[in-house]
Amino acid sequence: MYQIMAKKTLNKDVDLMEVKAPLVARNAKPGQFIILRVDDEGERIPLTIAGIDGDLVTIIYQKMGYSTQLLGKKSVGDFIEDFVGPLGKATHIRKKNHVIGVAGGVGSAPLLPQLKAYHDQGIKVSLILGGRTKDHLILQDEYAAFCDHIYLATDDGSVGEKGFVTDVLKKQLDSDPTIDHLIAIGPVIMMKYVTLMAKAHGVSVDVSLNPIMIDGTGMCGNCRVTIANKTYFACIDGPDFPGEEVDFDELMSRQSYYKDEEHMCFIDLDNHGR
Ligand code: NAD
Ligand code: FES
Repeated sequence: MYQIMAKKTLNKDVDLMEVKAPLVARNAKPGQFIILRVDDEGERIPLTIAGIDGDLVTIIYQKMGYSTQLLGKKSVGDFIEDFVGPLGKATHIRKKNHVIGVAGGVGSAPLLPQLKAYHDQGIKVSLILGGRTKDHLILQDEYAAFCDHIYLATDDGSVGEKGFVTDVLKKQLDSDPTIDHLIAIGPVIMMKYVTLMAKAHGVSVDVSLNPIMIDGTGMCGNCRVTIANKTYFACIDGPDFPGEEVDFDELMSRQSYYKDEEHMCFIDLDNHGR
């Protein structure tokens, strides 16, 4: 059992938790993830590690599904049944000069340790942070501590540029020839368009994929993704991959497989208040 030592509301949909998990904390590297189960009947939830502080592992989750809503009902001092990790491969830090992180919504959580790892190697890093409204832009202070520049975009124009992260990215790529690498994490459709833009500008891009996962060990095959026309498992071969090689359309189609079942779970959650 793993105790929740701190909990913070980042916006109405998103919480941050610090969970005491010394073995995970000791071994985790940027880009890796954990799989947790809220209780002994719970489904497995994969979450990228957003930070480490001593024995504490920071996770940030959007309360958008049945199990993340159950997690959101837990308080400081409560316990989580399982907390397994670190899983997946650590981020490969490329030799680059100026890296732009492109974060869509809650994708800013997994991006934070990756971009920080580039900064720690002495590489210039900037951030484009996008969300539906200004309340959806999370972790700005944490990024401000090490980013050279932060550009904001909101769908409704409540802060920063009105539009998607890709609108801001296009202007940066057009005007700044020092940019030689992108890391994009957010909705799959966003990562697809960031990749197309990177290709058009001859800039490399890494993305972090979040297909449906079950065991996280390469056994069940649920997280398979097509990279450069070959099948890989995001849980053991990723979750980071070069964007240019990802079949984003297949990933989008596989992500919608269990929409009906998810809807039924919500009805169950509403009826039983579990
Ligand atoms: P969202 O739907 O609110 O979108 C966030 C931002 O992404 C938008 O404000 C916009 O700037 C950009 N965006 C959205 N659609 C776009 C498009 N068609 N073209 C260009 N830019 C676009 O995001 P959310 O609800 O916060 O969800 C975040 C997503 O990130 C989820 O789908 C989640 O699964 C994913 N995610 C991925 C990882 C990972 O490790 N890969 C981790 C956490 C979350
Ligand atoms: Fe089962 Fe990756 S989650 S193979």
